[in-house]
Amino acid sequence: MIIAVDGPTASGKGTIAKALAAHFGLPHLDTGLLYRAVGRQVALNGGDPDSPEDALKATDFPDAMLDDPELRNEATGALASRVSIHPDVRKALFERQRAFATQPGGAVLDGRDIGTVIAPEAEVKLYVTATTEVRARRRYDEMVASGREASLPAMITDLEARDARDSGRKDAPLTVAEGALVIDTTALGRDEAIATAVEAVEAANS
Ligand code: DC
Repeated sequence: MIIAVDGPTASGKGTIAKALAAHFGLPHLDTGLLYRAVGRQVALNGGDPDSPEDALKATDFPDAMLDDPELRNEATGALASRVSIHPDVRKALFERQRAFATQPGGAVLDGRDIGTVIAPEAEVKLYVTATTEVRARRRYDEMVASGREASLPAMITDLEARDARDSGRKDAPLTVAEGALVIDTTALGRDEAIATAVEAVEAANS
């Protein structure tokens, strides 16, 4: 069984994907990390994230980079969004994601284009979303809790820019896949959101 979980930044898709993987005993891939690694590698190379050549070159990042805590910060997220526009970067990362999705026994993948491009045949497709304000507030609270500096208005502006870029790009834009169940987590607690997702997977399998 392939479970595709797509949605914008800080919608709760990662939390839901992880919980589904644990609940159903499936391996999980956070595909945003791959784009974040490319973004970080471009920066380390002194390259330009908006240059297709520089971004493509950065797709040969070392695997160890996927464990780098720097990948989680907002600056790397913004770089990831910029490099992810380039079709050659998406192509270079495709096989790795496709192989993960089609491994025997199934998998859970979260990202932007899992249900549309990476695994359109996924048995379960979820689109997890929430209002910009709520997503920005969650990110802000996380940052403050981990002792980092944050500004809520700046966070809202950044998220809006990122959403516009991810949804507006030509190649594999963020969109609700056909047949996807939309889970709006704006007014849902963590446990409620997970329970809704678990029910959706169970319903798809019954
Ligand atoms: O989910 P995230 O915030 O870690 O993703 C970072 C960026 O990577 C996101 O702004 C767009 C890009 N991305 C993508 O284009 N396709 C995916 N499947 C996952 C992420």
